[in-house]
Amino acid sequence: MLPKEIGLHRSCCLIDTAALTHNMETLKKGIAPGAEIAAVVKSNAYGHGVKIAWRAFIKGGATWLCVDSLHEAQDLRDDGYDGNLFVMGHVPPMHAETAVNLNVRVMVYDKSQIDALGAASSAASKPIRCIVKLETGTQRQGLLITEALELVRYMSKFPYVVFEGTCTHFANIEDTTDHSFAYEQLRIFNEYNDILTANGFKPALRTIANSAAGILWPNTHCELVRAGITCYGMWPSTECYVSAKLLGKDVDLRPALTWKTIVAQVKTIPTGSVIGYGCTYQTTHPTRIVVLPVGYYDGYDRSVSNLAHVLIHGHRAPIRGRICMNMCMADVTDIPDVQAGDEAVLLGRQGDEFISAEQLASWAGTINYELTTQIQSTVPRVAV
Ligand SMILES: Cc1ncc(COP(=O)(O)O)c(C=O)c1O
Repeated sequence: MLPKEIGLHRSCCLIDTAALTHNMETLKKGIAPGAEIAAVVKSNAYGHGVKIAWRAFIKGGATWLCVDSLHEAQDLRDDGYDGNLFVMGHVPPMHAETAVNLNVRVMVYDKSQIDALGAASSAASKPIRCIVKLETGTQRQGLLITEALELVRYMSKFPYVVFEGTCTHFANIEDTTDHSFAYEQLRIFNEYNDILTANGFKPALRTIANSAAGILWPNTHCELVRAGITCYGMWPSTECYVSAKLLGKDVDLRPALTWKTIVAQVKTIPTGSVIGYGCTYQTTHPTRIVVLPVGYYDGYDRSVSNLAHVLIHGHRAPIRGRICMNMCMADVTDIPDVQAGDEAVLLGRQGDEFISAEQLASWAGTINYELTTQIQSTVPRVAV
């Protein structure tokens, strides 16, 4: 049975809030003394439903939340979150007044942002705390040290603009077990912070660590770790998992999302029938198939056509034919007694079987991050 909260929808994601809290508690135990931990809840909390997730993370010990946009920040404030909130993505100058009113930390890298934030903060007589993005090798938002120094000097002209700290982001810590590029980024980040300090601009808050660094390298934790994927019980990559094992780190992460739907129709089709658009699958024996009311519009990636499995009655049912916009078909020939109205699991556990985000991602030729974030925000998220 699907929960009544799904209303007129035909699929939903059940979110295990105890698992989210457990993950945060687990990660927090590994954080270096003096550092705080932020839960990255951008992109609808990596698809888990931000309204459900942020409370579970705060309960687990997160003292910051990170989002990408002011739009996401506004949603969190509207939902009652009044703690530390860092907008890591682009805040256009025209939204400076909103940034000041929402009392967020803003990632800055351009004078046009400072002009607008300076004017808005002065008009409101409210401080705006800025975190300067330093370029260490990702080539995304960051500034080289000469540019960063120029920007912080420029910021000091505005009475309510506060230079709070510095940030950078690893480019290649999770995709490899060779961490030489990441080490170099860390070296540059430390060097730039030293130069800023020597010039009278000591950053009160330095943040470089993402999930992988949060687990692997306590020397990156500084004042704040920004953990995303691991909060949701997923590893950044197999390479990261292997690196953690090699370092003797045993981190118990629990996936929290189960995506369920219902069997819409069961039918037996004869040998030689083709299934779905493009006739890409042909039966070689009388076959019992189910029609499921979920398709690529919902975020069930079309690239898993003829590849993925769904779980029905605790068994794997292979997807047959192409995923349609709003439906897909699966083979239940070997699963007895399947009826319309039975539950089907697209992602997560049913009985002893489990389809992980990593497995579904590998069928789709992508990564767990993309897999869960692409589940349509209109698919209801239900806390369990
Ligand atoms: C700037 C920034 N910090 C932190 C994170 C969290 O990364 P992860 O999910 O690997 O922990 C992200 C994720 O994309 C990010 O863009």
